[in-house]
Amino acid sequence: MLFCSDIPPLRAWRAQVRRASQRVALVPTMGALHQGHLALVGLARQLADRVVLSVFVNPLQFGPAEDLARYPRDLDRDRRLADESGVDLLFAPAEEAMYPPGSEIRVHGGATAARWEGAVRPGHFDGVLTVVTKLFHLVEPEVAVFGQKDIQQATLIRRLARDFDLPVAIAVGPTVREADGLALSSRNAYLSPAGRREGLGLIQALRAAARRWSEGEHRADRLAAVLQETLAGFPGLTPDYIAIVDPERFEPVTEARVGTIVALAARVGSTRLIDNHILGTELP
Ligand code: PAJ
Repeated sequence: MLFCSDIPPLRAWRAQVRRASQRVALVPTMGALHQGHLALVGLARQLADRVVLSVFVNPLQFGPAEDLARYPRDLDRDRRLADESGVDLLFAPAEEAMYPPGSEIRVHGGATAARWEGAVRPGHFDGVLTVVTKLFHLVEPEVAVFGQKDIQQATLIRRLARDFDLPVAIAVGPTVREADGLALSSRNAYLSPAGRREGLGLIQALRAAARRWSEGEHRADRLAAVLQETLAGFPGLTPDYIAIVDPERFEPVTEARVGTIVALAARVGSTRLIDNHILGTELP
C-alpha cells in the first residue's frame, strides 16, 4: 500500500493508474476506521481495479461547539487496517495541504442540506461538500463509495455529482452494525457502557416502526408516534429529530411507502448518534 500525506505523489500515482487504464474507487473517511469503513473498502474493491482510502478529519464540517479537538485519531492503526483490507493508496493529508492559507471558496448545499442534520449542525454539509469536491478533483475516481449510515450525506453527494456534472458514480454501502444492532460509528468510542445501552434506542425505534409499517400502518404521523414512544423508553436519549422523508429531497411525507427514509438523531450526554432505515429493505 502506498501512503501519501501530500498531493503531488497522489497525482503522480493517479496519472500512472490512468495510463494503465485502471479504474479507481475512492472511499473518503475521517479515520478511526471500523468495520463499517472497511466494508466500504470491500465494496470499492468490487467496483474498481484500485482503491484509494482518504483519512482526513475535516475541520470545515465541525461546528465551533463540536468534537473536532477530541475526534479519535490513530493514523498508525488506520494505516495497518487499510493495508490489511486491500487499499492501494492511503491519502492522509495535513490540514495545510487541503486548506492552504488563503483558501476561501466553499461548496454550499441547498434546501436538502438545510434540513435535519443540516438544521442541527449549521454549515456541516457545506464542509462535507467542499472537502468531497476537493477529494474528487484530487483522486479523480470513477466511483466513490459512501455509507447508508449517513444517508442524508450520501444523498447530497449524489446531488453534488449531478449538479456539478462530476464524472464519478456514487455507490452506497449498507450500514454495518454491532451484533445487538447499534450502528458502528467512530463516535461510539465516546460512550460509557450505560450510554451504549441507551444508544440502542435508535435501532429499537427503527425496528418498531419498520414492524408497524410492514403490518400495514403507512401513515407517517402514526409511525412517528411509534418512534417517539420507543425512544421515550430510553431516558438517557435526547432526540434531535425524527424524520420520515422522501429519499430525494428529505421532505416530510404523509404516506410512508417503499423507499421512504426513516432517519433519527439523538444525543446520549454530549455524544450524537444517528441511524436510519429505508422502508422495504432488511433491518437486522
Ligand atoms: P466518516 O464518519 O469517517 O465516515 C466515512 C464513511 O463511512 C461515510 O461514507 C460513512 O457513511 C461511512 N460509515 C460510517 N459508519 C458506517 C457504518 N456503520 N456502516 C457503513 N458505513 C459507515 O462521513 C464522513 O466520515 C465524512 O463526512 C466524509 C464523507 C469523509 C467527509 O469528510
